[in-house]
Amino acid sequence: MTNPKPKICIEHLIKIYGKKPHAALKLFREGKSKDDILQATLNVLGIADVSMAVNPGELFVVMGLSGSGKSTLVRCINRLINPTSGHIYIDGEDVAHVNEKRMREIRLTKVSMVFQGFGLFPHKTVAENVEYGLKVRGIDTRQRRQKALSTLEAVGLAQWADYLPDSLSGGMQQRVGLARALATDAEILLMDEPFSALDPMIRREMQDELLRLQKELHKTIMFKRVSS
Ligand SMILES: Nc1ncnc2c1ncn2[C@@H]1O[C@H](COP(=O)(O)OP(=O)(O)OP(=O)(O)O)[C@@H](O)[C@H]1O
Ligand SMILES: [Mg+2]
Repeated sequence: MTNPKPKICIEHLIKIYGKKPHAALKLFREGKSKDDILQATLNVLGIADVSMAVNPGELFVVMGLSGSGKSTLVRCINRLINPTSGHIYIDGEDVAHVNEKRMREIRLTKVSMVFQGFGLFPHKTVAENVEYGLKVRGIDTRQRRQKALSTLEAVGLAQWADYLPDSLSGGMQQRVGLARALATDAEILLMDEPFSALDPMIRREMQDELLRLQKELHKTIMFKRVSS
């Protein structure tokens, strides 16, 4: 079997929240626990030395208890927060150490994110919400509308393009959030418990939908959910 180059490769990632990350890091390296570190420095150990690799086209699920660092991990990958130590390679480029300008490009072209809750603009139509990432990238009106419509088609919402998000159910709004991330053509989709606000039946449906879309679109998906 061939061993593909990982799409995302994380090496010894550590995130410490607070004002004294270096003092806290030193204690962590000396083997102190999260509680000890909190007591000594008032800093919170968010991620404690995580390494992993996600292959192209893989759907990688991160599970863990509440507070175990799942959101922190996902947010480090697209640098919504800065890691304290370690490496995050995306296609071989260490995004833990690129500048903010390059990171913006990476967010627009390589890594898109679907948030918990829907994060939709309430005063924009469904189609305008979906084309948002393309607009930011400077893609012209007609082209981005076309892309928005074809992505809405893929998630089964083509006929809702001109409605405001308010007129859609929770599950449908989450689908719009998904379509917005898919429309950018970014190869990597990060999902931070995207379906947890939905009732269990619809959540199940959305998870099946995601599996179907992934087969069709060959995205690399990192999906996190809380373990129950
Ligand atoms: N902004 C912050 N400042 C300080 N500590 C934080 C911050 N964000 C998260 N933490 C801490 O980092 C640790 C990991 O939190 P994180 O939100 O990543 O967990 P999670 O696994 O996503 O939890 P949940 O399943 O509840 O969403 C927790 O101990 C939390 O208290
Ligand atoms: Mg979380």
